[in-house]
Amino acid sequence: MKIAVVGSGYVGLVAAACFAEIGHHVICVDNDPQKLAVLNRGDTPIHEQYLPELLARHRGQRLRFSDSLPDAVRASSVIFVAVGTPSLETGDADLSYVETVARDIAQSADGYKVIVEKSTVPVYTNEWIRRIMQLAGASPADFDVASNPEFLREGTAISDFLYPDRIVVGVDSERAAETLKEVYKPLASGSYHQSASAIPQPAGAQTPARMLLTSAKSAELIKHASNAFLALKISFINAVANICEAVDADIEEVAVGIGTDSRIGKRFLRSGIGYGGSCFPKDVAAFRSVARECGYEFPLLDEIVRVNNEQRAVFLRKVRTTLWTLRGKRLAVLGLAYKGGTDDIRESPAIEIVRSLLHEQCSIVAHDPAAMDRARQTLSGDVTFADDPYQAAVGADALLILTDWEEFASLDLTRIKGLLRYPIVIDGRNLYSAESMRKHGLQYVSMGRSTIELESVASAALKTKT
Ligand SMILES: NC(=O)c1ccc[n+]([C@@H]2O[C@H](COP(=O)([O-])OP(=O)(O)OC[C@H]3O[C@@H](n4cnc5c(N)ncnc54)[C@H](O)[C@@H]3O)[C@@H](O)[C@H]2O)c1
Repeated sequence: MKIAVVGSGYVGLVAAACFAEIGHHVICVDNDPQKLAVLNRGDTPIHEQYLPELLARHRGQRLRFSDSLPDAVRASSVIFVAVGTPSLETGDADLSYVETVARDIAQSADGYKVIVEKSTVPVYTNEWIRRIMQLAGASPADFDVASNPEFLREGTAISDFLYPDRIVVGVDSERAAETLKEVYKPLASGSYHQSASAIPQPAGAQTPARMLLTSAKSAELIKHASNAFLALKISFINAVANICEAVDADIEEVAVGIGTDSRIGKRFLRSGIGYGGSCFPKDVAAFRSVARECGYEFPLLDEIVRVNNEQRAVFLRKVRTTLWTLRGKRLAVLGLAYKGGTDDIRESPAIEIVRSLLHEQCSIVAHDPAAMDRARQTLSGDVTFADDPYQAAVGADALLILTDWEEFASLDLTRIKGLLRYPIVIDGRNLYSAESMRKHGLQYVSMGRSTIELESVASAALKTKT
């Protein structure tokens, strides 16, 4: 099929590369000339596993990049809209990018097209798109609007797209349903998964992919409600972690005990410094606004946000309690991305914590495997960047773990101890067991678990600097 994807960000670029991978001819459109220049010269603008391989396979073949929406619209029968939907100050989703694209599509279309919302949007957006397109001159017979929310996770976006838990297709016409079934046929039939060149199947993936056909409104709600529910799981376990600390219980044991109930499930029950990223914060806020507009108060959503924000403060209190005073302390920070596996720092709790520590006049030496270039732009000259975790640790008063990168879970702790000024690790992601830290003679402060205190270390940490 001939497909246009508008927006070549984390979602659009991944979707475009994956649609090419499953056999379609794709034009990916963006209005950011810098991004297009990077893509057209053969580079990959985001850190994402398997994306360089897919771009190398399909760029210039089944996948092209363009700044011309009209050309892409005319060349395609299906147009996926994957532009940003950031938060307004009110918490509402800013749909102005979606509106602009809808108007431009209407003015360029030369026959029947299916416009597919891939961006995360509030319920009723499909109706607004329809209205805008008609106002811009499109005849209702010449287009359908469908909702096909995206559930990929940054870091595993390609695998998530090609081996999804489910594909939600929200349609209000048979014609649009048939078109989208055709788009996803290689995944829904499993033919892609059987091909020799398929991207490796992740453990536990279900093939063929399950497709859920719903109304457009239900599909829009499924996406917002899913993200709100995942955020709820994170805030719930963080609230329980705070109780664990108060009573000397261990959140890791408690989370396993809760998560092995098949009705609950283990995933997203990881205690830490809270969620961030470009989705959960804005989507919970937008869902709250949607509920309010529908006349339904949803205070549970406010509580999710409150608990999440509080986790940063909980972590900062731990740093303060451990180090006594902060001014002039040198801190090694591992992790700036909002989670492991991505270079995305949007709404990253790690960045927020670094800012607070800078405000307290700490000096920060940070390392992140992928996000340092982006972090440099936002943290300007205030932070020193290290090439690896060991360089960051040299002479530091403590090592802080802020992102759950796999690399940070397998550090050479003997070497780290030898490099630190004080043998203190404050782990906002619970990447280590108490035993391994005790064995290596490190004071270990984590989330929802007792601190591993070493008498000699505790007193050393309180020594004033000479
Ligand atoms: N990032 C994720 O993990 C994720 C997951 C699921 C859903 N989503 C949703 O997908 C949508 C996109 O998210 P993202 O992270 O890819 O955003 P992004 O900011 O990375 O990408 C958006 C892209 O759209 C482009 N753009 C904006 N206006 C345009 C226009 N008029 N014409 C052409 N291009 C235009 C921008 O230049 C940018 O490259 C959002 O609604 C988001 O909530 C994101």
